[in-house]
Amino acid sequence: MSTHLSTWELACTVNGREVALEVDPRESLLDVLRERLTLTGTKKGCDQGQCGACTVHVDGRRVLSCLTPAVQVAGQAVTTIEGVMGEDGRPHLLQQAFIDNDALQCGYCTPGQIMSGIACIAEGHTETDDEIREYLSGNICRCGAYVGIVAAVRQAADATRNGA
Ligand code: FES
Ligand code: FES
Repeated sequence: MSTHLSTWELACTVNGREVALEVDPRESLLDVLRERLTLTGTKKGCDQGQCGACTVHVDGRRVLSCLTPAVQVAGQAVTTIEGVMGEDGRPHLLQQAFIDNDALQCGYCTPGQIMSGIACIAEGHTETDDEIREYLSGNICRCGAYVGIVAAVRQAADATRNGA
């Protein structure tokens, strides 16, 4: 016996571009980004909300895209790691800070760390290194690059505070 599930219309913006797709209501935002829109910068780690590798922004708030049904972002603005670079083609302040502080090894967790880090800075959770660690605690790095990651967020937060 086969069951037929209807598809749903999804209209939203992704990195500033309007997107209109038919999606299965069971499809995650992560799968739509990676497999339908070939935005493979967002990584699939655990696919069950435990590693943070799939972090993206929806209307400026960070979400785990593996746990977010794609239909849920209808009418909203999705930003992925591919969308954070400056219009002049220069890396985002936090991307540059990751390079400056050697904040990655294999790099698999890095897009999620950067999306969480940008949100952490925007939310103002960067008073102390402990606060940064707490607000990035949902992002796991199997390579243990945490010292560099916290230093990178600290650098970008300080630069933002100083008007960079
Ligand atoms: Fe989404 Fe791990 S892939 S939290
Ligand atoms: Fe390898 Fe974080 S740099 S998992």
